Amino acid sequence: MKVRAVYPGSFDPITNGHIYIAERAAAIFDEVVVSVLVNERKSAAFSVSERCEMARKSLSHVSNITVDSFNGLLVDYVKQQGASVIIRGLRAMSDFEYEFQMALMNRQLAPEIETFFIVTDPKYSYVSSSSVREVFHFGGTVRDVVPPVVFDKLRERYRQ
Ligand code: PNS
Repeated sequence: MKVRAVYPGSFDPITNGHIYIAERAAAIFDEVVVSVLVNERKSAAFSVSERCEMARKSLSHVSNITVDSFNGLLVDYVKQQGASVIIRGLRAMSDFEYEFQMALMNRQLAPEIETFFIVTDPKYSYVSSSSVREVFHFGGTVRDVVPPVVFDKLRERYRQ
C-alpha cells in the first residue's frame, strides 16, 4: 500500500529549510503533497498561487512531490487527499511546544492520522519565512537560504 503524506504550511515564501524537509519526506513516503494554507485571517506577503508556484518550481526535481493548497481543518484535507501522515519540520526546541500541541490536537480530531517530525539540517535551523522577508526587505542577503525562484520573486516584490 502506498503511503501518502501531507506537508502543510504557510510557505510565505518557501525556504531551503522547507525544501530540505520536503526532500527527506519524499525519500521516506511514496507520495508527498506540499500544501499551502489558504488563511484569510492572516495577511500574507505572497498570494496562495504565487506561493504554490514557487514551491512547485523549487521542488520540480522530486518526482513524488506535488504541490496543492487547502483551507479549513488540516485533518479533513489530509483525509480528502487519501493521506495518513502529516509532516512537520523541527528547527529548535522553541518549535516543539507549538508543534506538540498541534500534533495532539490533530490526533484528538483524527487518531488515525500520524504526525511525523523531521529535524532540519542545522544550517537551516535559524531560517524562517518571516526572517527571510524581513532581511531581504532591509537589504540583507538571503541568497543562500531560499531557492533561486524565491530570490527572484523577492526581488520583484520588494525592489520594484
Ligand atoms: O507554516 P505554518 O504557518 O507553521 O503552518 C501551520 C499549519 C498550516 C500547519 C496550521 O496552521 C494548520 O494546520 N492550519 C489549518 C487549520 C487547522 O487544522 N488547525 C488545527 C490544528 S491545531
